[in-house]
Amino acid sequence: MTNPLQQAAQAIVAGKHVIAVTGAGISVESGIPDFRSPSGIWNTYPPEQYATIDAFMADPDRVWNMWYDLGAMLSDAAPNPGHHALTALQDMGRLDAVITQNIDNLHEEAGCTTVIEYHGNAKHMRCLDCQRVVPLDMDKRTSKAPRCTCGGIMKPDVVLFGDLIPEEAVRAADHAAENADVVIIVGTSATVYPAAQLPITAKHNGAFIIECNLEATDFTARITDAFLEGPAGTTLPTLVEAVLEILQ
Ligand code: APR
Repeated sequence: MTNPLQQAAQAIVAGKHVIAVTGAGISVESGIPDFRSPSGIWNTYPPEQYATIDAFMADPDRVWNMWYDLGAMLSDAAPNPGHHALTALQDMGRLDAVITQNIDNLHEEAGCTTVIEYHGNAKHMRCLDCQRVVPLDMDKRTSKAPRCTCGGIMKPDVVLFGDLIPEEAVRAADHAAENADVVIIVGTSATVYPAAQLPITAKHNGAFIIECNLEATDFTARITDAFLEGPAGTTLPTLVEAVLEILQ
């Protein structure tokens, strides 16, 4: 019986359409806390007060205070070996796309070229009135919600609870999940839909599911074929090495 690492590497080598689905766990080793672990962001900033569209509309200044704090964390963060391992698979022609729930831009900064930002990108902000999107400039932080040149309130260009997932991201992610024959799930608690539906869709279409996490999730017993336990900054580079060994 081959071990999960060998099974995962063999599946990637044999795969024709390999994709990754990532969550906050892949960025923890870049210094960005995840959301639901004991030291997670939602323990400091309860999502019902800071991460719903209703909370934002009720008090944009207050909600912006949290997003500026998070923005400061993101601006100090750099891709870690986990991000770079996915880029290495892409550069070998063994990864078609990354569907990420993360808003930290780290997959792009690691050199991934097909990144489907399912929950937006906190490096940008969007006008609620004219929809203009501009970079979020941390140097212009004030205690007030930033305003657009049209006078409208700017909102971080991320999907808050109660927001719709951007149409283009839904289309691209659904297409990728429906056509994948291997999915590498990294660092997600599998608790937030519709993102969590994507690996399930792929599984129903016959995909081989690899899961990298510190602990089991709802996916593990339900759809995972090869579970690689440990921090993504270790498990993903190890997986790339195992793929390279087979290809040699
Ligand atoms: N390596 C691998 N996995 C890790 C690591 C690590 N170094 N650190 C934490 N994890 C795992 C945790 O065990 C957990 O299963 O990453 C997962 C993080 O789960 P969440 O904090 O719930 O983050 P995520 O799944 O991305 O949340 C989904 O919820 O709050 C919304 O919009 C937000 O995109 C987010 C969505």
